[in-house]
Amino acid sequence: MKKLTDKFGRQITYLRLAVTDRCNLRCQYCMPAQGIDIVDRHDLLSYKEMYRITRVLSELGVNKVRLTGGEPFVRKDFINFLESLSFNNQLDQINITTNGALISNHISKLEELGIGTINLSLDTLKKEKFLKITRRDLFDKTMKTFEKLIASKLELKLNIVIQPKVNTDEILDFIELTKDKDIAVRFIEEMPFNGKGLRKTDEVWNLNRIYSEIEKIYKNITPIKDKKSSTSKNFRINNYKGTFGIIPAFTRTICNDCNRIRITATGMFKNCLFDDGVFNLRDFIRKGASDDELKQLFIDTVNQKPKNGFVAEANRKNKTISESMSTIGG
Ligand code: GTP
Ligand code: 5AD
Ligand code: SF4
Repeated sequence: MKKLTDKFGRQITYLRLAVTDRCNLRCQYCMPAQGIDIVDRHDLLSYKEMYRITRVLSELGVNKVRLTGGEPFVRKDFINFLESLSFNNQLDQINITTNGALISNHISKLEELGIGTINLSLDTLKKEKFLKITRRDLFDKTMKTFEKLIASKLELKLNIVIQPKVNTDEILDFIELTKDKDIAVRFIEEMPFNGKGLRKTDEVWNLNRIYSEIEKIYKNITPIKDKKSSTSKNFRINNYKGTFGIIPAFTRTICNDCNRIRITATGMFKNCLFDDGVFNLRDFIRKGASDDELKQLFIDTVNQKPKNGFVAEANRKNKTISESMSTIGG
């Protein structure tokens, strides 16, 4: 079987597929208050197209798919799509990143479908602050999902985007969740994907700062040997059930082991989170591309994967980063 390998020897095994650019929240770090210009339905990849792309990629060695958005559950019939993907036995893992607000009634179905990890975005444990960050009053619904997920068989990771002067005071509260819950709590460096660019702040909260804040309080931290290509550097407070991690998303020290590609909801193929899209697959497919042509396209495009996120950023046609994470898919 031909595989997807780039010129630095990195093998691509992980697809991040955004199923929609729409979202039921308006997180400050992701989009402006009025939202983003969402695309026309016909410009979105159909489920059939997404199924085909995933099948072709799985024939080239991709064995893990993460479904993202916007909020994936906002798209109609998303559960049916998950069900059809679950028939592809070349996929070892089908994972989802979600804000959780819509899914408390779907948890048992997700278990039934054998979904792997649910990465739940939850930046605060406080109701009023949730409203401020997300500009939507959906805290109770999200917390209900959180509790149901903890009680479920699904593996759970919490994603917390660290926002200076907003939720840095809650880092220790999140770590305390791992005391008796078998979950992975992950703090993420904020990136400029909010529809406007880097937000002004006089405080830099990068991996080192986040870690040293934690180290001030906890003297009993054990590093965990991370899985290859992990986005997070992971640790455990001794005797705690769960783990905590930090994702150097902006400082980009994880690129050497990058194993991922992205496809946005409109079919834009991205070799790196920081590039501005290299190829529109939707148009290629709609012109009648065969599976073999698609495969060759993937092989050739992956070969051009930039060494790291800084090179990808420098190579952008549009130098200023102003996309919303909701269009990219995270
Ligand atoms: P796992 O598969 O569970 O490891 O999840 P993940 O960390 O790959 O995905 P998730 O959707 O939970 O993303 C968490 C954060 O990591 C988000 O802020 C993503 O934008 C960021 N992230 C994911 N992949 C990359 C990457 O390749 N580069 C950078 N810089 N950030 C990434
Ligand atoms: N910086 C870092 N992470 C972000 N996410 C969304 N916007 C940003 C940003 N500007 C996170 C979400 C979600 C994941 C897909 O990306 O919280 O967990
Ligand atoms: Fe929606 Fe996720 Fe963006 Fe928040 S970060 S607005 S939950 S897509």
